[in-house]
Amino acid sequence: MDFAKPIRSGPVLVTGGAGYVGSHAVRCLQANDIDVVVVDNLSTGFERLISAPLEVCDLRDKEGLFDVMRRHKPRAVMHFAARCYVGESVRDPLGYYETNVIGAWNLLSCMKEVRCQTLVMSSTCAVYGVPQSLPIPDDHSRRPISPYGRSKLAVEFLAEDFSRAYGFRVGRLRYFNAAGASQDASIGELHEPETHVIPLVMRATQPGAQPFTIYGTDYDTPDGTCIRDYVHVEDLADAHLLALKRCEDHGGFACNLGTGRGFSVREVISSVERVTGLHVSYRTGDRREGDPPILVSGGRFAGDVLGWRPKRAELDRIVEDAWRFEQTQTSGGKAP
Ligand SMILES: NC(=O)c1ccc[n+]([C@@H]2O[C@H](COP(=O)([O-])OP(=O)(O)OC[C@H]3O[C@@H](n4cnc5c(N)ncnc54)[C@H](O)[C@@H]3O)[C@@H](O)[C@H]2O)c1
Repeated sequence: MDFAKPIRSGPVLVTGGAGYVGSHAVRCLQANDIDVVVVDNLSTGFERLISAPLEVCDLRDKEGLFDVMRRHKPRAVMHFAARCYVGESVRDPLGYYETNVIGAWNLLSCMKEVRCQTLVMSSTCAVYGVPQSLPIPDDHSRRPISPYGRSKLAVEFLAEDFSRAYGFRVGRLRYFNAAGASQDASIGELHEPETHVIPLVMRATQPGAQPFTIYGTDYDTPDGTCIRDYVHVEDLADAHLLALKRCEDHGGFACNLGTGRGFSVREVISSVERVTGLHVSYRTGDRREGDPPILVSGGRFAGDVLGWRPKRAELDRIVEDAWRFEQTQTSGGKAP
């Protein structure tokens, strides 16, 4: 066993740094004078979202990854790279386990080889499955109900075992619904296909666009639609910086990242109409299998121990930032 002191020099290697959450974390690290190198295969990410050195590399290519790690000698890794669509994971579990689990296994093995033992990793509230208690505490039982959630839980287990056996310091951050965009509207959510509620609702304000579908209007919630905890992507990025410091100074941990406040799908629609001044066209559909009625974070670790305070928790604020970014996509990259 090697419980060496953390390395304090070298860049932070960010896997999936060209993606939605990763690109905001890259910005946050750079704003705090931390060198970054991004590893991404650009399968769902975009080079234009980052201004950091980029190593185009697939995590499933262990040799390639090892070469990158050997050259950059990172002090720590932030791991975002993954496939993250629940529905797709049901149709293609092989692909999901390959990227999420084998990719993470390669990453942790290479870290061990180059003696980099600090890892901050994206996990998800999907590891909890159907909540047994609400709001969901940090130590809620983990019983995921999709291949996506199970693949992310497998990575948590892998990281926990590496911590016990090899002294890794791993921060496992279980996000709720990442949303919003950078305040300057230069980076934001560019998923294709888009599955997240806020961008889909915003698109349904456009003339000729597909109406937004509300899946399920008969849930046991005040207005019958699902309730989710939306967390601003810049707040998530701040949490990663705090998590890195916590891991380096005190060792690993696991916690939720949510605001503790939930909003229904109908409330999201109202917020988008308020912020944009446009009408959202929508229709109602049946419930989707595996959609719990309410997912809201009740975790206290992030606030009490990391000192994380979401600064952009208001739904309208999240939608405003997302909307400003969405408009840059149709106005040649300039914020309106
Ligand atoms: N967006 C959310 O609401 C949310 C919620 C909970 C957890 N998460 C987790 O956060 C992380 C980031 O999510 P996101 O929304 O930014 O996704 P994203 O698709 O925007 O980003 C993922 C990035 O990883 C890269 N990537 C994928 N497979 C790769 C591979 N094999 N090798 C190298 N790079 C690869 C992609 O090109 C992309 O840049 C994921 O781990 C996801 O499970 C996201």
